[in-house]
Amino acid sequence: MNLKNWFRPSVLKMRGYKPGEQPKGLSVIKLNTNENPYPPSVPVLKAVREQADPRLRLYPEPAADTLRKALSRFYRWPLEGILVGNGSDELLSLLFNAAVGKGDLVQYPDLTYSLYPVLAGIREAKTREARLDDRFNLDFSGFSTGARLTLWGYPNPPIGNCFKASDMEAFIRKVEGLVLIDEAYVDFADGHCLDLARHFPNVLVLRTLSKSFSLAGVRLGYLFGHPAVIAQLMKVKDSYNVNRVSQAVALAAFSPEGIRDARKKVGKIRSERERLARALRNLGFSVPDSRANFLLAARTGRPTAGSLYKNLKKRRILVRYFPHPRLQHSLRITVGTPEQNNRLLAELQGLLGHLRR
Ligand SMILES: Cc1ncc(COP(=O)(O)O)c(C=O)c1O
Repeated sequence: MNLKNWFRPSVLKMRGYKPGEQPKGLSVIKLNTNENPYPPSVPVLKAVREQADPRLRLYPEPAADTLRKALSRFYRWPLEGILVGNGSDELLSLLFNAAVGKGDLVQYPDLTYSLYPVLAGIREAKTREARLDDRFNLDFSGFSTGARLTLWGYPNPPIGNCFKASDMEAFIRKVEGLVLIDEAYVDFADGHCLDLARHFPNVLVLRTLSKSFSLAGVRLGYLFGHPAVIAQLMKVKDSYNVNRVSQAVALAAFSPEGIRDARKKVGKIRSERERLARALRNLGFSVPDSRANFLLAARTGRPTAGSLYKNLKKRRILVRYFPHPRLQHSLRITVGTPEQNNRLLAELQGLLGHLRR
């Protein structure tokens, strides 16, 4: 077998994105991939059941027009400026495929969603990382104004902070290429960047139902941009990229009851986020303020973050530990239900006392 004859060197060389662990059973407290700990809303579950009928033999709407109409009404955004995808990951992939060629410059903060460098690698792009300062603020002068594509999160993972609106706008005014603002976690924050995308045709804003709507398993993302930009991306997508069930489920998620349910869950997660952050700080962790549904908790000395991660796992609690030089002392912890957070805190307290001795 000669893989060199079959695949591009860039693919052979790359490591591939490593998703967080997805254990089979439900007995694990899963605080590692920023899912919502609460179940989907009643209308969503009803929509799934209603889809189990003979219409499954038919292809879905190619561009999910019924759903795009609902999104257009809800967000007051032109329908032609919305693209729906099989999770926001698919939309990111699509954007890279359409916009980035070999040797083009792609840039992002040194700490952000770790899928961006992987997609850049697949496209054989040049990459540049702008270093976040010690307080995780982004100095946009670390970016080139000539990049083909610039990406960051709002809030930005794995910290969960939001960069300053005036800094973002000043950079957008200067940059020649596209800017993708990834708002996967924006419903847990106070502001958003849709106005930037409204004013600047090179700005795209990416959303998902995976977090605030408790629908990570459905795989539904949506992208807002200038209609002329979205038209280019439409050409690159698969004909039927979002399945029939997901389209119906997303429509139900945007029903008045679906929205009320999501808002209620977001409220609970936001208040737990603040309580969990305080409790972790009391245990000696440094925890930057987060506007997302996760916290980055750092602690130097023994036990190390790596050993805390392993010992929590033995106790059936999963958190995320990243093999990044700047994150070796950190755990990224998804905010769970009050009961889950209490279990985590109790186990951490035990581990810190026990392992230190
Ligand atoms: C910043 C960011 N963008 C996008 C995604 C992917 O979301 P989706 O489930 O819509 O593919 C994630 C998932 O964790 C994320 O953290």
